[in-house]
Amino acid sequence: MVREMSEEQLNMPRHVAIIMDGNGRWATRRGLPRTVGHRQGAKALKRTVRAAGELGVEYLTLFGFSSENWSRPEGEIKELMRLLRYYLRSETAELLNNNIRLRVVGDISAFDNDIIDLIRNAEQLSENNDGLFLSIALNYGGRNDILQAIQKLAGQDDLGTLDLPQIQDRFERHLLTAGMPDPDMLIRTSGEQRISNFLLWQCAYSEFLFTDTLWPDFDKSELEYAISVYNGRDRRFGGLKASKG
Ligand code: IPE
Ligand code: IPE
Ligand code: MG
Repeated sequence: MVREMSEEQLNMPRHVAIIMDGNGRWATRRGLPRTVGHRQGAKALKRTVRAAGELGVEYLTLFGFSSENWSRPEGEIKELMRLLRYYLRSETAELLNNNIRLRVVGDISAFDNDIIDLIRNAEQLSENNDGLFLSIALNYGGRNDILQAIQKLAGQDDLGTLDLPQIQDRFERHLLTAGMPDPDMLIRTSGEQRISNFLLWQCAYSEFLFTDTLWPDFDKSELEYAISVYNGRDRRFGGLKASKG
């Protein structure tokens, strides 16, 4: 039933986060090397960014490489880095043409220097854009995000005098996602039903949607479907059921 709601009636989640999973399985099922799945996954990423902009999503955060993904085989990591380099080079102009602001969340110091430069360049060139706010999580881990914020707070002498809401406010200003609202909806593709160390703090009240679709097959209709499911959810934030009038 939720599927039949028209776009005008839909309440758009401001911030959609996606764990883009299933590239390897997409390829393996076709008898292809996993790297081919990553190439198709990059195309799905491009499609999804365009779709989110068209649908009026304000913030889109995509999990591209986790702090645990370094344990993958060297050849696979090399291909992921090649793709990252290729898309940063070829798509930065496209971001600017489409008024998209890019932020990479994660510890990028682990990447090659030329990739770090490409990321910084794309972030700086797009920082005044006020269309879609696109965050890509690269070498990101939710626990590390929390720990690095604690490390920054640790030097502040007045912490003991603050109450919990004040500490929360300060803490959130040091998270890698500072300045962004929490995700309203978290989508994970490929049928896995876990958070895999993504936005642990930020997803406290996000609506979760797990779809069996593998990431390389994700498209605008999948995003629209996810948004229609979101519209059927009753977000209570610990309160009582919202009156539907
Ligand atoms: C997600 O696809 C992309 C990355 C983690 C880089 P996977 O590579 O995890 O694909 P599966 O889960 O093995 O199918
Ligand atoms: C999570 O997927 C990370 C990304 C999608 C970038 P993984 O494929 O690494 O997660 P697990 O290992 O199945 O939990
Ligand atoms: Mg996976």
